[in-house]
Amino acid sequence: MKDFFETAAHRSSVRSFAPQPIEPGEWEKLLRAAMAAPSAVNRQPWEFIIIENRATLDALAEALPYAKMARHAPGAVLVCADPLRAHQGKVEYAVLDASAACENLLLAADALGLGAVWTAVYPQADRQAVVRKLLGIPEGIIPLALVPVGHPKGEQRPQDKYKPELIHREGWKPRDRPLDMPPPDHD
Ligand SMILES: Cc1cc2nc3c(=O)[nH]c(=O)nc-3n(C[C@H](O)[C@H](O)[C@H](O)COP(=O)(O)O)c2cc1C
Repeated sequence: MKDFFETAAHRSSVRSFAPQPIEPGEWEKLLRAAMAAPSAVNRQPWEFIIIENRATLDALAEALPYAKMARHAPGAVLVCADPLRAHQGKVEYAVLDASAACENLLLAADALGLGAVWTAVYPQADRQAVVRKLLGIPEGIIPLALVPVGHPKGEQRPQDKYKPELIHREGWKPRDRPLDMPPPDHD
């Protein structure tokens, strides 16, 4: 098993999967890691839907513009956030907490030799509506992210994203030249 630093550096979005299914023990490890995440006032306002039904995965791939890889994934987890259970009943806390759980899930997948990718459902209203309908999610629950999971097909090429210029010490220091900005329209 890789250590934490190897896992953190190796984790990258996997969008191509072998057909091999996820074992029940692997699902449990993934969800245990997700639920080990921190949350404001320890409210743990998350819920998870495991999806392995082929027709459902295909329908999600069809409905979500940037989740086409779900068509070839043996499974996926829909990470949900419940504002009513979150600190101060706030959507913001629910989303932050469920995002921490989602990242733990991605790291756990890598540590298990699996691959996964966060695909955005929240905050796009149309994507939330279609996922809610397909999976029968009640109105108050936020479908945050669909995470297709599987055994990676092909080599992963994680980027080295370490940028010393993004680190300030003891306070914000102006920089000599502006940062490179990302293209305006990205997901
Ligand atoms: C909030 C969020 C939404 C994302 N949405 C999508 C998505 O809809 N489809 C997709 O293929 N990747 C999605 N990603 C994955 C990013 O594209 C990916 O993390 C980024 O390009 C960096 O690459 P890496 O994960 O391989 O390090 C999303 C990631 C985050 C954190």
